[in-house]
Amino acid sequence: MPHDEGELAQEIRRLAKQKNAVILAHNYQRPEVQDLADITGDSLGLSMDAAATDADLIVFCGVLFMAESASILSPEKKVVLPRLEAGCPMADMITAQALENKRRELGEVRVVTYVNSPAEAKAVSDICCTSANAVSVVRSLPESDRILFTPDRNLADYAARMTGREILRWNGYCPTHDLLTSEDVLAAKREHPDAAVMAHPECRREVLELADAVRSTSGMLAYARQSDAREFIVGTELGLIHKLRQENPGKAFVPASLNMICPTMKFIGLRDIKRALLEPDGFEVRVPERIRVPAKRALDRMLAVPRD
Ligand code: 13P
Ligand code: SF4
Repeated sequence: MPHDEGELAQEIRRLAKQKNAVILAHNYQRPEVQDLADITGDSLGLSMDAAATDADLIVFCGVLFMAESASILSPEKKVVLPRLEAGCPMADMITAQALENKRRELGEVRVVTYVNSPAEAKAVSDICCTSANAVSVVRSLPESDRILFTPDRNLADYAARMTGREILRWNGYCPTHDLLTSEDVLAAKREHPDAAVMAHPECRREVLELADAVRSTSGMLAYARQSDAREFIVGTELGLIHKLRQENPGKAFVPASLNMICPTMKFIGLRDIKRALLEPDGFEVRVPERIRVPAKRALDRMLAVPRD
């Protein structure tokens, strides 16, 4: 870390202490942001940490749907997103109105909505899921239910294959994960024949079929720690490689494709965090009660599902 960056990080830590703030960072954030954070994690872990913290202020370094989830679960706390324009393109592929229209068209369905979605879509869903618990959430629903899974078609396909259930799918996708092809993975395997392949379930089926482990971002961190493999091909956003390397100094990590960068996950820098701590009102994410209450119901149902 350059000297002035180190000083800035110390200043942020002092400010966070003064304001009783907790800094949460998703596993795709820039390295310096991950290193500064009190807690790093995947979407499930961070939403549980946000609900459990007794801090007055949550500084969420991630994208909008994550900060919204924190605010839905902890309305008594102020949640700030240091760059309010950091959205998730997949979340933008669904709206509450479009989902309600689909429900009307399909008749009786149980709607499972991936947390990578706007709060208003969660509010008209039955239950949420993350990449870490999508399979358990689908399994928790009665066999007789017809399931509509939104907005990620790839995660829906994965959950359908893992559970043997027929699942109706919304046609959304993550532009960063959906671009990875089986050719990319096969090329990386040719270069690194002994490497274990890890892939995020937002990747296409053709990629998941080549993977040794399909995991959420924190699931990949756990897999890499426990595996005997010395080398790993990483099929997810490049930001995860920072922590993989930090936690496993004796192991090698190679990206499945150098194109797997989520631009909005890189928006937040240390200066943005400092500004958000100094003027939290300018960066607050608050979900209106008429959306928050039904959205919380869908998130609470998810949190009540035991993990496999
Ligand atoms: P995780 O929940 O696995 O961290 O994934 C979040 C995400 O945005 C994946 O693209
Ligand atoms: Fe959204 Fe994909 Fe970025 Fe995750 S990686 S925040 S799903 S666009």
